Amino acid sequence: MRMPFVAGNWKMNTTVTEGEQLVLEMIVKLDRIEGVEKVLCPPFVSLIAINMMLQGSSIKLGAQNMYFETAGAYTGEISPLMLRELCEFVILGHSERRGYFGETDEIVNKKVKAALANNLKPILCVGERLEENEAGKTEEVVNRQVMAALNGIEPVVLSRSSERSEETAKNLVIAYEPVWAIGTGKAASGKQVAATIQFIRDVVAKIWNKSIGQDLRILYGGSVTSANIVEFISQPEVDGALVGGASLKAEEFVSIVKQTAEIKGRKK
Ligand code: 13P
Repeated sequence: MRMPFVAGNWKMNTTVTEGEQLVLEMIVKLDRIEGVEKVLCPPFVSLIAINMMLQGSSIKLGAQNMYFETAGAYTGEISPLMLRELCEFVILGHSERRGYFGETDEIVNKKVKAALANNLKPILCVGERLEENEAGKTEEVVNRQVMAALNGIEPVVLSRSSERSEETAKNLVIAYEPVWAIGTGKAASGKQVAATIQFIRDVVAKIWNKSIGQDLRILYGGSVTSANIVEFISQPEVDGALVGGASLKAEEFVSIVKQTAEIKGRKK
């Protein structure tokens, strides 16, 4: 069984004070929801404060990016060693990193390797741009991005103690985020998302093996709200969501997580 997973990517929003306020508004309600792994990904500067607030709760923390070296003269960068004291997850290869900051498939691959080697769990983002979608290249693009990001990574590296594929799959989450659906209010359809996520499972099965392809958690991201989350999580292929804008509103985010717990709980 794959544990459902919902993460909030706050992107470059909230000061430390605002971030603390947002956590205060949702922590009790979110903490009570069972059967879903709940992750908040605030900006770097809020990680320490929010890490303290989440102590003793069932809510986990993630960062939004990371450099692939562990230490050194890389002014302005944040390393996996710094992050792993504060959080369990790290979003890697987000389309905004790829698009605005020039992250290539090769850089994303180095980051995924560095995260896994330092016991951080990557939330690897892939997804096609509008023109690629319109040209019917979704599968081609997603295949390239997944193959490249996982290139040279042995399935056993994914786990500390790992003969079992459940454990292997546990440390990596993939988020399918079509670029044209991000922040546009124009979400993909549940069917489209389910088909692409199944395709990603097949790609992972080719890279590693069928059981990892089956066990790995794969999310949808792109204009997810409390009003459309059901369309995605009612698809058996989809394990949850990576939520942007709607994760900045406590009530919205709690509702998304709650609906995920209800729908996925019912399917068991
Ligand atoms: P929105 O939910 O704001 O469309 O953002 C999605 C996203 O990029 C999450 O990483």
